[in-house]
Amino acid sequence: MKSLNQLNQTNFEANQSGKNMAKSSQKPHAIMIALPFQGHINPSVNLVMKLASKGCAITFVHTEFIHQMLSKSQNSSSELDLFAEARESGLDIRYTTISDGFPVEFDRFLHSNEYWESMLRDFPARVDEFVGKIIRSDPQSAYFLIADTYYTWPATIARKHNLVDVSFWTEPALVFSIAYHLDLLRENGHFPCKDNIEENLNYIPGVSSINTRDLMPFLKESSRTTMEQKVVVKIFDVDEQVKKADFILQNTVQELEFEAISALNQKQPIYPIGPINFSTGFTKPAISQNLWAQTDTKTWLDSKPSSSVLYVSFGSLVQTSKQIIQEIAHGLLLSKVSFLWVVRSDIVNSNDTDVLPLGFADDIKDQGLIVQWCNQNMVLSHPAIVGFMTHCGWNSVLESIWCGVPMICYPLSSDQPTNRKLVVDDWKIGINLCDGELVTREEVVEKIDNLRSGTISDGLKIEIKKVRTILQKALAVDGSSEKNFDQFIKDLKAKIHVKMQDISTS
Ligand code: UDX
Repeated sequence: MKSLNQLNQTNFEANQSGKNMAKSSQKPHAIMIALPFQGHINPSVNLVMKLASKGCAITFVHTEFIHQMLSKSQNSSSELDLFAEARESGLDIRYTTISDGFPVEFDRFLHSNEYWESMLRDFPARVDEFVGKIIRSDPQSAYFLIADTYYTWPATIARKHNLVDVSFWTEPALVFSIAYHLDLLRENGHFPCKDNIEENLNYIPGVSSINTRDLMPFLKESSRTTMEQKVVVKIFDVDEQVKKADFILQNTVQELEFEAISALNQKQPIYPIGPINFSTGFTKPAISQNLWAQTDTKTWLDSKPSSSVLYVSFGSLVQTSKQIIQEIAHGLLLSKVSFLWVVRSDIVNSNDTDVLPLGFADDIKDQGLIVQWCNQNMVLSHPAIVGFMTHCGWNSVLESIWCGVPMICYPLSSDQPTNRKLVVDDWKIGINLCDGELVTREEVVEKIDNLRSGTISDGLKIEIKKVRTILQKALAVDGSSEKNFDQFIKDLKAKIHVKMQDISTS
């Protein structure tokens, strides 16, 4: 016969395991705070939609400032709930905001150093408090943390709150692999990398060979004092935040970057699940993601013949000089190609608002349309488009491939020069605009001609069809990205279960 004590003990264990059973059968609940950049918001929003469609609950968080921009771009009130419709369709997504510590009026782009210093120093404490509050509001929920790899706090905060830590990498595996091996780069004298040397690196696992000119500019000596280098060192080196993550999701495709992904998988569980951006409808996303109002371009494109228009856009962030913008403008005019050009108001790093050549608007007449922001996916999928002159932001590259549009590459910063290598050298679906940053109008004309017709153009078209098929297959029901996503959900659930058992037995 059992003693009272033994009975109590048995009941206690039964209760505990009952609790665990209840918890383990609960759906995982993601807490995700998006990085406040357009190129990171788009994949993050799509990722949470996908997670929700696979049965996860989500608490999705924007900074208040980004929320204001999104509301403004849509002419909506600040009460806008981005995910209201998603919830109506049955997805369990809650939406809220967090302060980044600055008033909404503060110009984060103009004072970007001050802003990012504070984001590094003060924001983690805000996130910590915020995550703690969410957990306390529903302690029974099976929470996990999912954060952009470029944040410097996920592992620390996940550990403190005993959460499974999922890192989300929005760029190619190649870029990740290089940053992951800062120690090797340093040992070989390539970090920081001298600015003007050209050497081949063949010691990074999974990267057969890469020239120093294709490395991310933030690894270079001239970037020593930049915020980007500071952040990358913190994440991949000093704090090793990403190396402590339980799982790493990457917005890329296994078949496209097989070697880099396989090598990384020896170190940590990596799940290539891309392209993620198309989960919510390609040309009409279900969730608002645009930080700026879109100008309608469809009517103008509809008036153009098939495969006649060059789309020109350098993403949401990069800046260049007025001289370069003017050379590109003259080149476009001289080439006689029809073009749609996104010229953001801050494309030039000065207060100059008149960046285009004098009389340009009159000169281009019907030949060109200039806008400050547009629906890029709608543009790229329009039959009038023949090519994309791009800075090689990773979202733009994936979107261009998805639409089968060959690229003229003009990388300027961040991961773009490394992405260019994939596009031009490895996959042969794009050509370089020029060598380095300085470009002449003659080069612009020559490259546009190459893209539009002739053997180079034919070759690009053949290759981009192949790469496009790889992307399409990866996203099919039995495709690699879909399978990897399902495997991730399985592994995530198992890990959360183990964590919860650990909590209940400790
Ligand atoms: C940044 C970095 O520059 C990029 O290299 C990195 O891979 C992601 O973060 P960004 O410069 O904004 O991104 O470029 P990109 O990755 O191409 O993202 C831009 C997004 O804005 C794309 O999804 C594109 O469709 C969208 N866009 C761009 C518009 O919707 N309208 C526009 O007019 C221009």
